[in-house]
Parts: sequence; structure tokens; C-alpha cells
Amino acid sequence: MVGVLSMPLSFGKRRMPAIGLGTASYPSVSAEAMRLAVSEAIAAGFRHFDAAAIYHSEQPLGDAIADALRQGLVERDELFITTKLWCTDAHPGLVIPALRESLRKLQLEYVDLYLIHWPVSLKPQEMKSHIDPEDLLPMDLKSVWEEMEECQKLGLVKTIGVSNFSCKKLDQILATANIPPAVNQVEMHPLWQQKKLMEFCKEKGILVSAYSPLGSNGAPWGSTNVMECRELKEIALAKGKSLAQICLRWIYEQGASIIVKTFNKGRMKENLAIFDWNLSEDELQKISQLPQVKGCRASEFTSTNGPYKSPEELWDDKKGKMIVPTLTTTFADICYPSTIFKNFWR
Ligand SMILES: NC(=O)c1ccc[n+]([C@@H]2O[C@H](COP(=O)([O-])OP(=O)(O)OC[C@H]3O[C@@H](n4cnc5c(N)ncnc54)[C@H](OP(=O)(O)O)[C@@H]3O)[C@@H](O)[C@H]2O)c1
Repeated sequence: MVGVLSMPLSFGKRRMPAIGLGTASYPSVSAEAMRLAVSEAIAAGFRHFDAAAIYHSEQPLGDAIADALRQGLVERDELFITTKLWCTDAHPGLVIPALRESLRKLQLEYVDLYLIHWPVSLKPQEMKSHIDPEDLLPMDLKSVWEEMEECQKLGLVKTIGVSNFSCKKLDQILATANIPPAVNQVEMHPLWQQKKLMEFCKEKGILVSAYSPLGSNGAPWGSTNVMECRELKEIALAKGKSLAQICLRWIYEQGASIIVKTFNKGRMKENLAIFDWNLSEDELQKISQLPQVKGCRASEFTSTNGPYKSPEELWDDKKGKMIVPTLTTTFADICYPSTIFKNFWR
């Protein structure tokens, strides 16, 4: 089995495996297929699993973990389990109950990392398949974060963090936090390098965790921009590595952790085999010059009467550097991977 390296969290108090398996899958798979995929991933060497209430992956992930623990394949403290607070529960008083429900599905006493999924609240309600603009609310970030801190104090989570937060929004948390966020999980790959955010987070001791590290390739909502990138193909060919490995290794060398989704046994092994070689200065230089294209704009979280009027406001991208992707990428595509849900979002 391949050894997975780990990265320090919160200035070294805890560690997170440098690579984790994503559980947001498109096309959606049955709970049984996801359980099997996670079991295969554990056998292959994955120790970090990334779930979210909205992915509906907590139950099958929990089943696979329970199997592995029962069979003595791993100990609980070898695993690193992340899950996320959905926007309908991002309100004072709802955070702890939401986490308890996630823990029930995961069949765990604690998760290693709990993230605020988006810097947006939705009217408290059942999770549904689409976002109505009138449901969008500004988040009471101070109170929600206090409750996240309470989750940690209660021992229900080992570390807390956020996802899809800009530097400005991280600053808002840091202004009042007693426990600073340990992680910010964001889109990151060679075509969306997050240089400014990486620098900011490094300075503040926040680990950046890279989602969609291959650009969500192959999915109807995703983009093949990363997997079809000519420069990356050339580097991969010359190095005798796959393009996916070049992307994953590049992320690791930037000091970010990786969340990559594959339910394919061969690709699981391929994605893990990135820790015993490195990219040369020349290769890093070439990658640093690649044109930048953001995949997930998440415009569904914006509306004229909502807390964010445009994707630029949501991401605090004042200079409007985001380039509209060639394929229409929506938040829904990523968070609601089933075909049924997808149709609501088009
Ligand atoms: N916090 C957030 O808001 C957020 C948003 C998006 C995603 N995420 C998390 O990040 C995870 C990963 O992101 P993602 O699923 O959007 O995108 P991704 O990991 O960049 O891409 C997944 C796609 O790449 C394919 N793939 C994986 N390894 C490969 C390889 N070695 N060679 C060729 N193709 C490969 C997979 O296909 P196969 O399965 O067929 O191999 C799948 O189609 C998600 O599952 C989720 O846990 C979080």
C-alpha cells in the first residue's frame, strides 16, 4: 500500500492526510456503489474522506467505515473524516443539531473536520433540489462560527473550518474567532491556482484544501479544460506520469491538501502515487504561467435581493478576473449530482 503523507493543521496541532477521496459523485451512484468505492479506497490507502450533508454520502461512507473498523482494516484514529454544514442549517441554534445528524449517518462519535460549506445561509427548511433566490440570506457569521467552536468544545469535531471563503470573508471570521478556521476548502487546480488565497491562508495558518483538482473532468457540468490542457499533457508525457498525477502533485507542492473523486480502483492507486517524485523548477514555472479559468462560479447563490448580487461579490473578485467557463458550471451541478436535481438547475 502507498504511504500517504500528511499536512499540519492549525500550526501543527493536528494533521490531515495530504490527499482525500471526494464523495460528491456524478453521475450519482447507488449507496451500495459508494459504500463499495469507499471500501476499495480504504484498501488502496485512502485515509481521508470528504463528505457533506448535501451530497447524501454520509450514510454509505459511514457504512463503509463501520465495515472497515469491524474487520480491523483500520483504526478510527487512522481515518480523517470531513463533512460540511449545509446552508439551510447555517443559523444560530441549527449547527449542533445538523452536526449530530451527520454523525448519526456517519455512525461516528466525532468527525475530524467540520466545514461551513458556503458563506451563505438559506431559509431554514428541508434540503431541497434548487435554490430559490428569495431563500438566500446573509449569514450571521459570528454566531454560526461561535456554534462551530462549540461543536469543537463538545468533542463532536476535532477541527473546524470553512469552504468557498475568500480572503475578505476569512478576515471577517478571524476578527471575532476564538478558534480560527483550520481549513478553507476551495476549487484549486493548475488552471485556477488561488495564488492570493494561498498566500493569505499560509500567513494565517489556514490549510487550503483543493477540491475539483482535475477540474471535475468528465462530468457534464465540469470542464475538460484541465484534463485537455496541452501544456499539462506535454509535462505529463515527458515525465512519464499521468496528467492527473501532475495536477495532484502540483497542488501538493503548493502546500495545499487534495480532495479528488474517483470510484475507479485503478485511478485511486494512480492518484495516490504522487508522493515519491517531484516537479522540476522548469515544470513549475510552466504551470505557473497557465491562463486561469474558474470552474465553479456558483451564480445560484447570487440574486438582486440576496446578500451577493453577483459571483464577483460572492467571491470578492473585485477586478472581475473570473473568466466564464466554456461549459456552464453551476453550484448545483457540483452539490446535487443526481440527474433529477440537475434538471432543476439548468
Ligand atoms: N466544498 C465544495 O463546495 C466542493 C465542491 C466540489 C467538490 N468538492 C469535493 O471535492 C471532490 C472532488 O472534486 P470533483 O469531484 O468536483 O472533481 P475532480 O476530483 O477534479 O474530478 C472528478 C472526475 O475526475 C475523474 N478522475 C479522477 N481521477 C482521475 C484520473 N486519475 N484520471 C482521469 N480521470 C480521473 C473522475 O472519474 P472516475 O470517478 O470515473 O474516475 C471524475 O469524473 C468532490 O467529490 C467533493 O468531495 C467540494
